[in-house]
Amino acid sequence: MFKLKDYQNDSVFVRNYNTNYIIHSEAPVYMKFKITILCENSVGPLSGTLGEHGFSALIEPAEGAPLLFDTGQGLTLVHNARRMNRDLSLVRQVVISHGHYDHAGGLKPLLGQCGPKHVSCHPSVFNSRYRIKDNGECFPIGMPASRDELEAAGASFDLSTEFRSIAPGIHLTGEVPRVTDFETGDHGLYGDCCGREPDATPDDQSLLLESGTGLVLILGCCHAGLINTLEHVAVMTGRRDVTAIVGGTHLGFCSQQQIEKTIVELKLRGIKKLAASHCTGFAASARLSRELPKAFQVAMVGYTLEV
Ligand SMILES: [Fe+2]
Ligand SMILES: [Fe+2]
Repeated sequence: MFKLKDYQNDSVFVRNYNTNYIIHSEAPVYMKFKITILCENSVGPLSGTLGEHGFSALIEPAEGAPLLFDTGQGLTLVHNARRMNRDLSLVRQVVISHGHYDHAGGLKPLLGQCGPKHVSCHPSVFNSRYRIKDNGECFPIGMPASRDELEAAGASFDLSTEFRSIAPGIHLTGEVPRVTDFETGDHGLYGDCCGREPDATPDDQSLLLESGTGLVLILGCCHAGLINTLEHVAVMTGRRDVTAIVGGTHLGFCSQQQIEKTIVELKLRGIKKLAASHCTGFAASARLSRELPKAFQVAMVGYTLEV
């Protein structure tokens, strides 16, 4: 039986878990990382960069090869990386947070232009995905290339549902259990165009960096819910010192109740930096900015964070 180490009694999530995986809570790696947003809906002050609906972040450890987390939809990744003097041929590992086109669509152009890559993701990333709007319109939002096409282009897939280490000080959450009652998610996502199969996006996972300043969480869309993801990290690592969160929170597609309760939980957890992106959207970003004024930032194309 594994008990959370830094357990805060005021949290509502009192749980003990059996787990075989605990990261280095006794002997931290204390690595340094530079995080750079390569694809996002908006661009910052860096001239010549382009925005698209999507997300991609380059993770550069102080030592070792860079890693790419998500690839955007494929319209801006290579262009923006060149504009920021980043050589994506040096990237050996790519993580795909989940199988939506705006995170995985850049994988095929990346492979074509920057060479073969090891790709870590959940086995469900290849599932069919659709968004059905309130007016009944249906749009495919899954991965635009098949597994066979991507493997032919140079992808070697590492498919797993588990929490795991993929490089020194870099971990993947794996599938995130949905334990909170308020993170009901995005109700417009389906596995079919008839609306018979709601898609809870079980493949959604986040990246965890073990830095000297604490744990840093990088989100794709966080369809699993931000507090569910933080809880999963605490359960799997024995640590509650997530100090920075970067990426898409999906709060722009969720209920007002989910936003309000997420803010309450974030305040309890003492998050020092919340660099929101992508599916957070303007209204939820404005709310987060007002409630967490010292922590909140907008992570658009060109945003960098050193941890
Ligand atoms: Fe997204
Ligand atoms: Fe998504």
